[in-house]
This record gives sequence, structure tokens and C-alpha cells, in this order.
Amino acid sequence: MPNLHDTRNSSLSDLPNHLIRHVTLRQLQVFEAVYRLGSFTRAAEELFLTQPTLSTQIRKLSDVVGVPLLEHVGRNVQPTEAGTIVYHACTSMFETLIHLDTDIANLKGLKSGRLRLCVVTTAKYLAPEMLGKFSRDYPGVDLVLNVTNREKVIERMQANIDDLYIMGQVPNNSTDLQTYTFSPNPLVVMAPTNHPLVGKKNIPLKVLLDEPFIIREPGSGIRDATLKLFDSRGLKPAIKMELSSNEAIKYAVVSGLGLSVLSLHTITLEGMDGPLAILDVEGFPILRNWYIVHPKDKELSLVAQKFLDFAVQYEPVFRKHMVELWPALEKVIND
Ligand code: PGA
Repeated sequence: MPNLHDTRNSSLSDLPNHLIRHVTLRQLQVFEAVYRLGSFTRAAEELFLTQPTLSTQIRKLSDVVGVPLLEHVGRNVQPTEAGTIVYHACTSMFETLIHLDTDIANLKGLKSGRLRLCVVTTAKYLAPEMLGKFSRDYPGVDLVLNVTNREKVIERMQANIDDLYIMGQVPNNSTDLQTYTFSPNPLVVMAPTNHPLVGKKNIPLKVLLDEPFIIREPGSGIRDATLKLFDSRGLKPAIKMELSSNEAIKYAVVSGLGLSVLSLHTITLEGMDGPLAILDVEGFPILRNWYIVHPKDKELSLVAQKFLDFAVQYEPVFRKHMVELWPALEKVIND
């Protein structure tokens, strides 16, 4: 025989019909406010109701429950024992309602929300692939992809404009940031396939000084990483041209304007059979990672959280793609 007062053992058929028919959520809301604030005046202010309305609602509730819920002691109101029991029931019902509301808002969010992603220039080669897969799982989510260079991405992150950011190098003050790796990002030296250095092994870095060099614009993460490598060996490349677009750099390299350092991701579509060759140069590939980043104190929308989880789980897929694209990478990663 189940204990009638143990709600964990109750079934929906045990629902008290007289309460369901006669108690309203409004009455409970009024009672909860008067109990919590200990005053009709303050409860009336909080709920934007008049005091007579409050009194009527509470009288109706007491009538249904069948016992007084509040008693007047001088000018104050005091809860009765029944009042305290009703108050606890109110708080747990309202908590359930709040959860219900949030769950429904979240559900709507995934059905019709929006994901705003801001990525550094080079991440345009990998963000669409992830977005494509994500969008198949959540077709109602609108996607906004902003592509700009690292400096501008950081500015936008500081202004809290987007949901999530993708970059190849986390800013120095990264203690304020939450960062997640989701793909390798190898930087390689690219040359046209007919260049005399193609096929040579272990080319010393200083040999590149004799070659005209094409480099990304100031503010680019690839530019920083490239110059840092040269700088660490006390060398300076002979920069012939600065370009803010990876695609423009690829065309410039193919046209014989010079060599350049680019992310391996930039040749994802054409693969190794395209018009660019990777040179085997000392210090390369520069092994970097891609990061998804957001400020630590940012409250992520459900859509953003889902995308983040999705991206982090995507890491092995990108790793496999990179190794398939350029098998030499496997050894470098494992060394
Ligand atoms: P970038 O960043 O496209 O701004 O150069 C890429 C990276 O940091 O690897």
C-alpha cells in the first residue's frame, strides 16, 4: 500500500482534483509574494496589483484549501502552519515553471536560433565545413559568418559582438578567455610546382632569403608566426609583396611572384595535385592549432554551446583530412 503523502510514489491519477479545478496560478503567485515579503503593501507594489485584489485572491485560495493561510497580528501578517506548507508547494511549482519556460525557450532556440561566428581570414577554409555539418543537424538555425583578420577578430571579441571566435593563436591575456582546440593548423612554405626548390630535402631557412617573399598583411596571425620563426634565427625574409587574402597569395605564388607561408588548409579543395607545391624547409611546418574562443564570463546561447561541443568533437575529422591531404604531416605530428 503506497504512502499517500509520499509524492514520489504518487501517480498522475492521484492529482487532487479540487485543487486543480479551483486554485489558480495567479492566487499562488499572490500568496507567495505576500508570504515572502511579509506585507500586503510590498506584495501589491511588486505585482502591480491593488491591495483589495490581493486580499480577494488570498481569500479564494484559503477557501479552496479549507484553512486560513495568513493571520493578522496587529498590523503584520503571519503565515499559519498551513500557509507555510502552501508556500513551499508554491516555490517548487514555480521552480518547475521556470525550468519549463527555459527549456521551451532553448528548444525554440535550437529550432530557430542564430549562430554568429567570427573567424580569422584563414579559418574560412574550415569553418564552412563544420557549419555545413552543423546545419544539417539543426536546419532551423541561421548562420552568420564574419571573416576578418586576427586583430579585428580580437576587437570584435572585446566588444562582445559574436557568439564564438575562431583563431590560430590565442591572445596573450588569455586568462580571461575560454579556449578549445578543434583542429591542427600547419603552416607550410608554398612554391609553384615548377620552382627549382621543389623536391629538395631539408632546405635551410636562410636559402629562402634569396627568394622574393609574399606575406600576409599586418594583423595576420600567419604573418606573426612566420616572422617570429625567421626572427628566432636572426633572419629577415626579403618581402616583395604584402597581401591580405590567402587566395590572392596563392595566385601570386603560382604566377612566380615569390614564395609564401600559408596554412595547409588553404589547399584543401585542390589538394596536392594543384598548382602549388609544399617545400621541405627547416623549421616547417610551423605546427599550430585552431582554437574556438569566447570570453570566460560570456553566457553562451544554447545554439553556441551546441556548436562548440560539435566543433570540439570534430577534431579527429580535421586531423584525418590534414593527414590525407599531406601524408608527410603524420610523421611531423607524431615526432
Ligand atoms: P590569419 O590567422 O588568417 O589572420 O593570418 C590565421 C592564423 O592565426 O593561423
